[in-house]
Amino acid sequence: MRGSLLVDHIGELVTNDGRDGDPLGVRRDAALLIEDGEVAWTGPARHAPAADRRIDAGGAAVLPGFVDSHAHLVFAGDRAAEFAARMAGEPYTGGGIRTTVGATRAASDDDLRATVGRLHAEMLRQGTTTVEIKSGYGLTVADEARSLRIAAEFTEDTTFLGAHVVPAEYADRPDDYVGMVCGPMLAAAAPYARWIDVFCERGAFDADHARAILACGQAAGLGVRLHANQLGPGPGVRLGVELGAASVDHCTHLTDADVDALAGSETVATLLPGAEFSTRSPYPDARRLLDAGVTVALATDCNPGSSYTSSMPFCVALAVREMRMTPAEAVWAATAGGAAALRRTDVGRLTTGARADLIVLDAPSHLHLAYRPGVPLIRQVLHNGVPR
Ligand code: NIG
Ligand code: FE
Repeated sequence: MRGSLLVDHIGELVTNDGRDGDPLGVRRDAALLIEDGEVAWTGPARHAPAADRRIDAGGAAVLPGFVDSHAHLVFAGDRAAEFAARMAGEPYTGGGIRTTVGATRAASDDDLRATVGRLHAEMLRQGTTTVEIKSGYGLTVADEARSLRIAAEFTEDTTFLGAHVVPAEYADRPDDYVGMVCGPMLAAAAPYARWIDVFCERGAFDADHARAILACGQAAGLGVRLHANQLGPGPGVRLGVELGAASVDHCTHLTDADVDALAGSETVATLLPGAEFSTRSPYPDARRLLDAGVTVALATDCNPGSSYTSSMPFCVALAVREMRMTPAEAVWAATAGGAAALRRTDVGRLTTGARADLIVLDAPSHLHLAYRPGVPLIRQVLHNGVPR
C-alpha cells in the first residue's frame, strides 16, 4: 500500500527504545507515522505530521509485533492423545517425535503447506509478525528439503533441524545418520535455510554429534541455534555459547556454569514456557538468567508434541505468572528479545527505520497481556505497514 499512514491517539506506545529502568521505551499520548512499510517518525500525538491515511488507536496501547523465534510448523497430524496421557501422569520424553515424522513423510506438499498456512495465520491474528520455522519432522534428504522449501514460503527465518532425533531406520547407526545430515541432507537443505539447529539432549544428539553437525552448518553459511537443557542438565548451553550460537532454546535445567557462560556471551536464552505448560514440567528460572544479565527471549515452540500453542500472549502471561518475569520484561522478551535471538535489527522495535510491524491492543497498556490471560486483546495487526 503506497502513501503515508499515521497511527494516532496511542495511549501507550512501546518502542523498545529503552533506557535503564524502562526497557520498553514507553511513550504516552503518542503517534507513529509509517511510510514505505517502515516507521518514519514517532513522537507526541500533538506534533503528529499530516498523512494520507490515519488509524485512530483511541487511547489504546501499541506494541511491536511479536517475534516468535522458535516454532516447528511443518508437520502432519497431531498428538492430542499423547497430551491427554501426560495430563494423566505420563512423562514427556520426546519419543513422540517419531510419530510425527511418520505422519509428515506420508503427507503431500499441499497438506504440509496448508498446515503451515493455518498456523501462520493463527499467529498473525495473535500479533506475531515475525516467525522462525524449523524443519525436523522429515528426517530424509527429500523430506527435510521440502519442509524448508515450504517454510521459506512463509518466512526468511527458516531453520534446518535434520538433527531433531535419529529416525527409526538409523536407530542402530547414529554415526551414519550424522554423516548423512552433514552431507547430502545439509546440501539439499542449505539453499532454503538461514539457521541450523540440533536437539542436544539425552536420547537425541550428544555434544560430539551436535558439535559436528553445527560446524558443518556453519561451514555452509548457516547461523547456529540449539535446543539445549530441556529435559535435564547437559552440555548444550555451553556448546552453543562456544560456537557463538544466536540462541540456546529451552534452558530449563541450568547449572551455575551454564548461566555464567551465557552471561558472558552474545547468545540469547530463549525460554519456551508453552513446553513446560504442556509437558507439566518445572518452568525455567527466568529470574536467575535476567539477574545474571543474560538476554532472554520468549517463544512458543509451537509443535504438535510438547507445545501446541501459537500464542505469544499466552507465553507472556505464563512468563509473568509462573516465571516471575515482570510484565515489561516479558513483553520485551517476546518482541526485542525474539529479534535478538534471530539477530535482527529491523523488527522487535518501533523506532525510525524499523519495519512497521505493530499491534494495536484492545487495552490501554501492555500490562493487560498478562493481567487478562486468555482474552483476545489483539485489536489490529499491521505487517510491513499493511493492516492484516
Ligand atoms: O522443542 N525438543 C525437541 N523438539 C520439540 C518437541 C518436538 C515434539 O515433541 O514433537 C521441542 O519441544
Ligand atoms: Fe523446539
